[in-house]
Amino acid sequence: MTHEAGTKESMGVDPFERNWMIISVILLVVFFALITVAGFALGFQVPGVETRVDPETLTDSLPWSEPGVRELAPGRYEAYVVASQFTFDPREIEVPVGSEVTIYVASTDVQHGFKIQDTNVNMQIVPGHVSKLTFTFDEVGEYPYICTEFCGLGHAAMFGTVRVVQPGAGGES
Ligand code: CUA
Repeated sequence: MTHEAGTKESMGVDPFERNWMIISVILLVVFFALITVAGFALGFQVPGVETRVDPETLTDSLPWSEPGVRELAPGRYEAYVVASQFTFDPREIEVPVGSEVTIYVASTDVQHGFKIQDTNVNMQIVPGHVSKLTFTFDEVGEYPYICTEFCGLGHAAMFGTVRVVQPGAGGES
């Protein structure tokens, strides 16, 4: 008996090591579950680099020369936002409630951030790259957007508002 137990032990894994292996596997399962929940149930999105642009000539041509909101189809919009020291152009975006809005943001100078409060829209705006995220605004209200990267002395002044209104409300809310 003692001999058998001894053999087993020498062929097996040290209990201390085995416990850490079990913990590691549990962590992998937990991380996988969290990523699955975040991606599919909570709708987390990884901001993608849509296209490359030249920051110096960004606003010379469309669509960046006329930033703002455009309706693509009923309930579907795209918004182009230019980030520069120290403002967003436009500073106000208005869409009807229930709209799916694809937001493109690009910088004309340094790195900025673009985060819309109470949504999962939060992007880094790297000069030369166009950042893109899509969000559906299901509730009427005002959603401030702010610059989340320190970009200079006027950083705190970089903000704007998404106004989500009842169709036909025309801006009052
Ligand atoms: Cu732009 Cu901070």
